[in-house]
Amino acid sequence: MENKVLVCGGAGYIGSHVAKALKLAGFDVTVFDNFSTGNRGAVKFGQLIEGDLSDKELISKVLKEGNYTGVLHFAGSIKVPESVENPIKYYNNNTECSLNLIKACVENNVANFVFSSTAAVYGELQNGFAVEDQLKIPINPYGRSKLTTEWMLEDISNAHKSFNYTAIRYFNVCGADPDGEIGQAFPEPFHLVNIACEAAAGKRDKIAIFGEDYPTKDGTCERDYIHVSDLAHAHVLALKYMQSNQSSQVFNCGYGHGYSVKEIVDSVKKITGQDFTVEKAARRAGDPAVLVAKSDLIKEKLGWIPEFDDLDKIIQTVYNWEQGETIKAWREVQK
Ligand code: UFG
Repeated sequence: MENKVLVCGGAGYIGSHVAKALKLAGFDVTVFDNFSTGNRGAVKFGQLIEGDLSDKELISKVLKEGNYTGVLHFAGSIKVPESVENPIKYYNNNTECSLNLIKACVENNVANFVFSSTAAVYGELQNGFAVEDQLKIPINPYGRSKLTTEWMLEDISNAHKSFNYTAIRYFNVCGADPDGEIGQAFPEPFHLVNIACEAAAGKRDKIAIFGEDYPTKDGTCERDYIHVSDLAHAHVLALKYMQSNQSSQVFNCGYGHGYSVKEIVDSVKKITGQDFTVEKAARRAGDPAVLVAKSDLIKEKLGWIPEFDDLDKIIQTVYNWEQGETIKAWREVQK
């Protein structure tokens, strides 16, 4: 009981890196995943239960029988432009299914819940940095669907004193496991660093820059790019903190400095030594100009110390992953 954890969405990009970090920290990991975007090859760090969070009976049964000390919830949809086109999918996957899981946790006495939230809850930043307790006005359905879940967690933990949660607001998660065991392999990649590394590896002809007329240093959007292994470590610290302190909290998780889209593209070309075509394109729906974290709170409270705050190293891990055999094998299964 002390160390059994359920990782919902543990076959996905972030979930699998957290599953690895949990296993290395001595937790007994079970992954719950429907494989809508995850990969079977990524389930390497614990047992697997295949299922969907829309199945209330199943998740309730899993929690009743599992005797877990904590549930970590990564299962959700994460594409900002898709959320603008199809908000119902986002409220189903990110809000309704989260409520199913939270309710099952409360009913089955799971004390600790870690929620995968997002910088997208903030909307347009007025002063360049996001601070946890500032006003949140998300500008896309993705951010709204996640903020609604944060509010549910706050209300439910206030009403049920034995249920605690930590919501971690991720900034732009990128990079791959430095050991090369796991990495990002979405069926249709869309994150900037991965797309640029795919172009460098010759897997796509060109990339587009979505908008060059933002109020930023070079006109392209600025983001806080954080390595997935640093983020994974933050989850282990959050879980341990809740186990000893029985309290709820919300943290930003980013490095506190931003890079523009153009800077990322230039860095990928420099690190990989590969040139590729870059085209101008229209702004993408739902994109705020700047999203950069103030992460003082997570450092102070959890003692989180980032290990990979180096853009060149991050890009190298992605490029290595893109060229490796594992992603090739996973892609074969996806076909
Ligand atoms: N971009 C391009 N060309 C591309 C892909 C992206 O110009 O081919 C631009 C986007 O328009 C954006 C920036 O690169 O300005 C980053 O885009 P990503 O798609 O890599 O990431 P997002 O900032 O849209 O969103 C990501 C996660 C969200 C999370 C957010 C937090 O997908 O889940 O970071 O900052 F909320």
